[in-house]
Amino acid sequence: MDVDQDRLNEFLHRFVGDLGATMAAGSVVVGDRLGLYRALAEKPQRPQELAERTGTAPRYVEEWLRGQAAGGYVEYDADAGVYSLSPEQAFALTDPDGPLYAPGAFQLALGALRAEPEVVQAFRTGEGIGWHEHDQDVFAGCERFFRPGYIGNLLTSWLPALDGIEARLREGAKVADIGCGLGASTILMAGAYPRSAFTGFDYHEGSVTQARSRAADAGAGARFETASAQEFGGGPYDLVTSFDCLHDMGDPLGAARHVHRSLTPDGTWMIVEPAAGDTVTDNLNPVGRVYYSFSTFLCVPNALSQEGGYSLGAQAGENPIHRLASDAGFTRFRRVAETPFNIVYEARP
Ligand SMILES: C[S@@+](CC[C@H](N)C(=O)[O-])C[C@H]1O[C@@H](n2cnc3c(N)ncnc32)[C@H](O)[C@@H]1O
Repeated sequence: MDVDQDRLNEFLHRFVGDLGATMAAGSVVVGDRLGLYRALAEKPQRPQELAERTGTAPRYVEEWLRGQAAGGYVEYDADAGVYSLSPEQAFALTDPDGPLYAPGAFQLALGALRAEPEVVQAFRTGEGIGWHEHDQDVFAGCERFFRPGYIGNLLTSWLPALDGIEARLREGAKVADIGCGLGASTILMAGAYPRSAFTGFDYHEGSVTQARSRAADAGAGARFETASAQEFGGGPYDLVTSFDCLHDMGDPLGAARHVHRSLTPDGTWMIVEPAAGDTVTDNLNPVGRVYYSFSTFLCVPNALSQEGGYSLGAQAGENPIHRLASDAGFTRFRRVAETPFNIVYEARP
C-alpha cells in the first residue's frame, strides 16, 4: 500500500480525538447526572472536596476530573492541585435552561448508541426502528439537545420572522405543534402567548405523557394529544409548527398535505429543520457529521419504520423541503431564519 506518512498521522490524530470524545460522552453524562459540573462551577476544588460536595466516591471523581481536564472540559491548576470550570465551560455545561447545554446532546448520543445492535440488523434487513423503540435517554436527550436552541431563538427571532404571526399569537390564535416530543417548543410558546391555544401532537404516547407533566410543572396551558402528523385533528389552525421532526417521518408528503388541510386559508406552517446545505459536499463539516450520525441511528430508521417508508434524512437541505411543500399545495415558501443547528421555513397555502 502506498501510504503517505503525513496523511496517516493526520488521520491518526483525528481518530484518537474521536475515540477520546466517544468515551468522554459517557463521562459528560456521568458528570451531569451526579451534579459534578454544577458543584465545580461554584469554586475551584480538589477531587476530595468535589466528591464530598456531591456525595460521590473520591477515587472515581479524581479519575473523572483528569479525563475532563485532558479533554478541555475542565481546567487544572497543577501547582495548586485544584480543578475548576472557566466561565465558558460553566456556560456550556451547567445550565439546562441556557442557550447551550452540551450534556443534553451527549445524553441523546448515548441513548441513540444503545440501539447499535438493532441498527446493524436494520442495515441488513432494510427494516425500520420506531422512535418509540429507543432508550428513554433518546427522548429526554433529544429535548435537552434541541430546547436550548428554541430558548435562544424561537420567541426572539423565529416567530417574529414569520409574516404577521406574532401579532396573531398575541391576540389569540390556534396552534398545533406536530411531532412535539416532550413539548419543549409547545410549552415555550404557550408560556409567551397566553391568549393563544396550543396543542402538541406526537405519535409516541410516552413522549406525550411526559409533555403533559412538563407543561403542568411549567404552569403552561398547552394541551398534548397522541396523534401522527398525518392524522392530527382539531383544526383549522392559524399556525402549525414542526420542530426537527418532518425529516423523521415515513410519509412527510402525507404530513405536509394534512398540515395544508388543517390550516385556515391564510394560515402558516413553520417548518424547523436541521441546518443543512443542498448537497452532500455542503454537509461534510462537523455539524453535518453530527446530523448524519444521528440520522443513521434515529431519523432514517424511524422513517423506514412508518407507512410511506420514505426518508428525507436529517440533512435534506432546503430544496427537498420546498418541493414537498409545493407538492402538498403550499404556494408560498421562504427561508426565514437560521442558526448553526437549524433552518426555519415559512410555508403558506
Ligand atoms: C427529533 S424528535 C423532535 C421532537 C421535538 N419536536 C423537539 O424538537 O424536541 C422527532 C419527533 O417526531 C416524532 N414523530 C416521528 N414520526 C412522527 C409522525 N409520523 N407523526 C408525529 N410525530 C412523529 C417522534 O416521536 C419524535 O418525538
